[in-house]
Amino acid sequence: MKIQNYINGEWKEPSTRQFAPVINPATGETIAEVAMSGPNDIDEAVQAAKEAQKRWALVPAPKRAEILYQVGMLLKERKEQLARLLTMEMGKVIEEARGEVQEGIDMAFYMAGEGRRLFGDTTPSELKDKFAMSVRVPVGVVGIITPWNFPIAIATWKSFPAIVAGNAVVWKPAPETPIMAQELARIFEEAGLPPGVFHVVHGDGPTAGNALVEHPDVKVISFTGSNEVGRTIAEKCGRLLKKVSLEMGGKNAVIVMDDADLTLAVDGIIWSAFGTSGQRCTACSRVIVHERVKQELERRLLEAVKTLKIGNGLDETVKVGPVIHEEALQKIDRYVRIGVEEGAKLLVGGCILREGDYARGFYYAPTIFTDVTPNMRIAREEIFGPVVSIISVRSLDEAIAVNNSVDYGLSSAIFTRDVNNVFRAMRDLDTGIVYVNAGTTGAEIHLPFGGTKGTGNGHRDSGVAALDVFTEWRSIYVDFSGKLQRAQIDTGD
Ligand code: UN1
Repeated sequence: MKIQNYINGEWKEPSTRQFAPVINPATGETIAEVAMSGPNDIDEAVQAAKEAQKRWALVPAPKRAEILYQVGMLLKERKEQLARLLTMEMGKVIEEARGEVQEGIDMAFYMAGEGRRLFGDTTPSELKDKFAMSVRVPVGVVGIITPWNFPIAIATWKSFPAIVAGNAVVWKPAPETPIMAQELARIFEEAGLPPGVFHVVHGDGPTAGNALVEHPDVKVISFTGSNEVGRTIAEKCGRLLKKVSLEMGGKNAVIVMDDADLTLAVDGIIWSAFGTSGQRCTACSRVIVHERVKQELERRLLEAVKTLKIGNGLDETVKVGPVIHEEALQKIDRYVRIGVEEGAKLLVGGCILREGDYARGFYYAPTIFTDVTPNMRIAREEIFGPVVSIISVRSLDEAIAVNNSVDYGLSSAIFTRDVNNVFRAMRDLDTGIVYVNAGTTGAEIHLPFGGTKGTGNGHRDSGVAALDVFTEWRSIYVDFSGKLQRAQIDTGD
C-alpha cells in the first residue's frame, strides 16, 4: 500500500516521488510506504487551503459542526477496524487503541457541540446607546504537526476545534503512523467536508514540517512532540510573529503517601508507567514514595510487573506492546545504562527482549529502578519507554518539591486518604494536570490538556481552551446614539 498526500480533496503522489517504509513495530514487517514530501507539496496544500478557507468561514458554525457529528458517527462505526490498524502501525495494545479511537469520537461530538456555542462576550459599554461584544474569528490556515504515539487522537484534538471554528487545516503527521492519517482524511471526505478544508501532507520534520512552519500563509502552528523540536519551531514562529501552540512531553510522577491504598497505587502506577509501553507524554516515569511504605510498594510493584504479558498488541491478553522502532529501543537502553552508572538499583527489567518472536519486533522489558535520587538523569529526562524510577521521600513537602524539581510540568498524581494532603497537592503540584488517587494518564477531552515549564508555552489542547489557539478575538462596538461619543471622555462625568 502506497500512502499518498491528500491535497484539495485528491490523493496525490508527492512531488519528490519519494516514499519511506512504514513498519509494524510488533513484527518488523513493512506494512505500507509513505510519501516523503517536499516544500512544493506543502505549498500546494496551503494555497488550496487558503482558497477553501474563505468559503468555509462563511458556512454557519452549526452547519460546520454537522460535518463533525458525521465524522464522529463514522469513527464510531469503524472503531474496531481503526483500532486494529492503529495497533498494527503504532504497536499499542488493542484495548488502548480502542480507547484512543474513542478519544477521537468524544472530541468529534464535543467540538460539534461548540458549533452552537463558540461563545464570545457581550458586555456593557461605558457610553450611552452603544453596544459592545467580542466574537471569535478563524485565523485562516492552520498547520498541525503530530507525533506517532497518539496518531489519531492528537490529530482530532487539533483539527476538530480548528475546523469547527472556520479554519482550513494542513496536517503533517509523523511518518511512522500515516495509516491513521489516511483513514481520518477518508472519513472527513465521506462526512462531506468540502475539498480543501483538510489536507494531509506526509513527510519528515526537517523537510515537510519545516516548510509548514515557515510558510507565510500558515497563521498558526499546533505541535505535539519533543521539547527539542518544539523549541526550534517556537524560535522560527517567533521571528515570523506566528502563533504557536506546543505540547512537549513530561517527567510525570506518582506520589505515594504512607496512608495510601497500596493496591490502588500499584494498579495506577503499572497502568500509567507501562501502558502504551511508557510512550505517552503523560506516562508515569517517577514514583515518589514515602519512606515508610517504600519497601512494601516495591515488593508489590515487582509482583505486578511479573504478571504483565508482553507481545503483539493484537493479542487481547497482551498488556505491554512493542516500542515504536529500533532507535527508540536503543535510546531506552542507553538511559537504563546511564541509570546503572549513576548508581540507581535495577529492580526488574533493564533489557531489550530479543528471544523468539520478540526478535522480530521492538520490545523492551518493563523496567523499575529504585534508590533513585532526584538529580539523576533518569529522574529528570524524558525516556519515553517502559522505565520508571522510585525516589523515596520523608514528607509531603519533600514529595511536592521533588515533583516540581524537573524541567517538565505535564501531569502528576497523588495517592493518599488524607483530605489535607489532597488539597495541598491540588494547590502545590506544578503541572497542568493533577490526579488524586489515579495514575498520571487518563485525560478526558473536554478539559484543557497541557502543562507548565518545558511541557509547553502556555497554550492548551482539548477543552474550550483549544478554541483559543485557533481563533482570534474581535472586539466590536456598535454606536447607536447618532453622534460622536469619545471613549473615556464623553462619559457624562
Ligand atoms: C499523549 O501522550 O500525548 O491522558 C496524549 C492520556 C491520554 C492522552 C495522552 N488521554 O494519557
